[in-house]
Amino acid sequence: MLADRLNALFRKLPAWPIYIVGPLPGIWLYWQGATGALGADPVRAIEHQTGLYALQLIIAGLAVTPLRGFAGLNLLKFRRAIGIMAFAYAGLHLFTWAALDMGLYWAQALGDIVKRPYITIGMAAFLLLVPLVATSNDRAVRRLGAVRWRKLHWLTYPAALLAALHFVWLVKAWPLEPFVYLGAVLGLLGLRVVAKGARSASRRKGAAAPSPTAS
Ligand code: HEM
Repeated sequence: MLADRLNALFRKLPAWPIYIVGPLPGIWLYWQGATGALGADPVRAIEHQTGLYALQLIIAGLAVTPLRGFAGLNLLKFRRAIGIMAFAYAGLHLFTWAALDMGLYWAQALGDIVKRPYITIGMAAFLLLVPLVATSNDRAVRRLGAVRWRKLHWLTYPAALLAALHFVWLVKAWPLEPFVYLGAVLGLLGLRVVAKGARSASRRKGAAAPSPTAS
């Protein structure tokens, strides 16, 4: 089966190259900005592209579990690196805004965070990613225990939703792109609800069925 063949390939591939290849588009973007290759408003261009990378990586991380459940593809070993890269791009996006757009005028930046809803939502999404990335290591999993760790990582869902809403909120007209991202997030969250429903139904069925050893 194709899924088995792909899984055999994924098992052979290490996750560490993601940490090497992942930052390259960001470095290339800043390089282009510094050499005048990003047009008249390089800061805006970097802001947009880093925001898009962050959102795309959040969605990629969110797709890992449904891909396993519905397509049998096991990409779990790459999920941590994808999540850390998503956070890195969200951080670069925030840095670009605070340092290059706001010029590190903290009073104005804080004013914008409070007054502009799309920035408030973006900031909330970013803050939700902080505990996720802080606990993305084996020591944190051991310290918290699997159940509490999983409960904490539930924050991925509101973070993804807020990040997609941030994009929808900031556009002035009605372009398709932000709604495609919002649709992807809603679709992936929906698939989790479907999978959870199917799991509880099969558990209920299992509990109702008479045990083969029962007399
Ligand atoms: C998880 C966190 C975040 C994600 C995934 C994200 C994603 C995005 C995306 C996709 C865009 C639109 C790109 C485009 O127009 O093509 C964007 C734009 C923007 N974001 Fe974020 N963002 C996040 C957090 C933040 C934070 C924390 C701030 C500032 C406090 C922020 C400020 C902005 C600004 C100023 C823009 C450009 C608005 C404009 O075009 O005028 N974002 N972001």
